[in-house]
Amino acid sequence: MGDDPEPAVDPDTQRTAVRDGYDGLAGTYDRERDDAEAPLVESFLGTLDAGARVLDAGCGQGTPVLNRLPDGVDAVGVDLSASMLGLARERTAAPLVRGDLTRLPVATDAVDAVTALHSVIHVPLSEHAAVYREFARVLRPGGRLYVTCATGEEGWAGANDDWLGSGELMAWSFPGRERTRELLTEAGFAVTATRRLGDGVADDDGGEWLHLFASLSAE
Ligand SMILES: C[S@@+](CC[C@H](N)C(=O)[O-])C[C@H]1O[C@@H](n2cnc3c(N)ncnc32)[C@H](O)[C@@H]1O
Repeated sequence: MGDDPEPAVDPDTQRTAVRDGYDGLAGTYDRERDDAEAPLVESFLGTLDAGARVLDAGCGQGTPVLNRLPDGVDAVGVDLSASMLGLARERTAAPLVRGDLTRLPVATDAVDAVTALHSVIHVPLSEHAAVYREFARVLRPGGRLYVTCATGEEGWAGANDDWLGSGELMAWSFPGRERTRELLTEAGFAVTATRRLGDGVADDDGGEWLHLFASLSAE
């Protein structure tokens, strides 16, 4: 894949394709999604103090985070796709907002934790740094991040014009795992733990994802 896996597509075109794709395949994705991360999500959410606020960034259909918020933990879900947010609405009373990970509709220092499961992977590579800066902006100093990224050393970007047999196009952009760590460091995060886990969508190729836990600098 080389050093620059970005396909010859501009970021706004990819964003629109991803939004339209999820609007079209929301029900399919929801049916295919398994709950493989449940123990990791429960463990992460379980360490938050009562009164903590969570941003689920790219919350999609409201699983596996918004549907299992502990008592006393508040959350907001942000997603590009109205159809995905419609599914999330059936699972949570948390506020849900249509918005973009590169320009979060969330105030500075507003949340104690950010979860971003399988969402940053759809953002054009040239905008990953902006996403992590946004996560750092909305988190209070010392706040916590749980994000999934690719396990591979090399980056990859591409699209599937019939993802999950839905007839919808979907696009992904992954930096290599070390590049992701660099971007997190540049945004002020220190990685505290990682776990590799099988894919959460049934008919994918069985690949693994890197589940990465990080803390924002306390200063
Ligand atoms: C694979 S789904 C993941 C949903 C859920 N977090 C999960 O783990 O199943 C990816 C979600 O990210 C959202 N998404 C992709 N790019 C986004 C962006 N730039 N801003 C906000 N949401 C985005 C999509 O609309 C979709 O709902």
